[in-house]
Amino acid sequence: MKYFIVTYGCQMNVHESEKLASICEKMGYELAEKREDADLIVFNTCAIREGAEERVFGNVGALKKLKKKKPSLIIAVCGCSTQKESTANYIMNTFPFVDIVIGTFNMPNFEAYVNAVKTGRQMELLKEGEIDEQIPYKRTSGDNAWVNIMQGCNNFCTYCIVPYVKGREKSRSEENILKEIREVLAEGKYKKITLLGQNVNSYGKDLVPSVSFAKLLKDICQIEGNFGLTFMTSHPKDLTDDVIDVIAKEDKILKEIHLPAQSGNNRILKLMNRKYTREKYLDIIYKIRTAMPNARITSDFIVGFPTETEKEFEDTKSLIEEVGFDGIFAFMYSPREGTVASQMEGQVDDLVKKRRVNELLTLEKKIQKNKKNN
Ligand code: SAH
Ligand code: SF4
Ligand code: F3S
Repeated sequence: MKYFIVTYGCQMNVHESEKLASICEKMGYELAEKREDADLIVFNTCAIREGAEERVFGNVGALKKLKKKKPSLIIAVCGCSTQKESTANYIMNTFPFVDIVIGTFNMPNFEAYVNAVKTGRQMELLKEGEIDEQIPYKRTSGDNAWVNIMQGCNNFCTYCIVPYVKGREKSRSEENILKEIREVLAEGKYKKITLLGQNVNSYGKDLVPSVSFAKLLKDICQIEGNFGLTFMTSHPKDLTDDVIDVIAKEDKILKEIHLPAQSGNNRILKLMNRKYTREKYLDIIYKIRTAMPNARITSDFIVGFPTETEKEFEDTKSLIEEVGFDGIFAFMYSPREGTVASQMEGQVDDLVKKRRVNELLTLEKKIQKNKKNN
């Protein structure tokens, strides 16, 4: 019996799939080379933009023929996209050959859903869940080991679906994180540890007693061994001076920071509920560069947020030029059902968004070329 997992979305999903893989192997399934060879196919989905969801629908739909040829094939769809009831229902109704539809919070119980398929199709969406500390990971990322430090997000940026599908911020205990990293390093295969969370800078605020992200970083660096430590993603509103200090001081921490700005215009940042201004963002960049002149700084930007004018978009371009990032990701704003921004007046035309995203990519190429020549 063989399994195959198709993963969409962010590194957290990639890591979540490492847990699904270990559940499948515990059940006696072996990894298939391609989906056609599998007896169990799992889609671990992402809801961040419409494009991500449409790809899932297309790929699930394409399995109809395979299921006809092999009726015993079990097909499961899980993750952020199916955590939304509307999408879960859509999949149940549109693809009658899908056996299991579950959300993010049901995933630790994946084995039970597979076992119950004998009795019929399974659909269940738990509302919120504790962080699972029991199921091991089947690590699949070479000499990098992902280590989850928290789940969920409390920020409710007005464009973003994550708080709705991942729940509120919950931090793992520092003890469990340190134990996992010690065990991972003891295997001798891993040279890099990447800490994961939607907003790692607010790590530990929910713990009693609370633990700061800076302390967690410092304590991880005390662990013996040769390894590089990095993390994602930082939110500018919470990237405090003590975190910048620790990154600068600790040799084990890689000097690279992904710090999504989203926009360079204060009115848009406010509408996005990002809780910082362009000036505050530039101030943090200045502090990072002062402490670590060679730090690699990257960012994310959204173009075509509702009501964004041409002039406001120019502010994003000027911010990108001013910082001279080492890399950026640029996204066209995608309205997500249930979020505040999707209800705003003044949605921007797709053609305008496309043009703006292309302008950012051209600008990004120019910056990288100039960096190489200098
Ligand atoms: N937690 C991280 C980002 C998670 S999502 C943070 O706060 O930075 C990764 C990126 O997707 C975001 O930085 C944002 O640029 C983009 N994104 C999120 N929602 C989006 C939407 N509705 N449309 C377009 N891009 C979006
Ligand atoms: Fe989404 Fe904002 Fe949370 Fe990032 S911080 S996951 S963009 S709500
Ligand atoms: Fe997508 Fe969920 Fe990550 S929506 S970006 S897979 S947290």
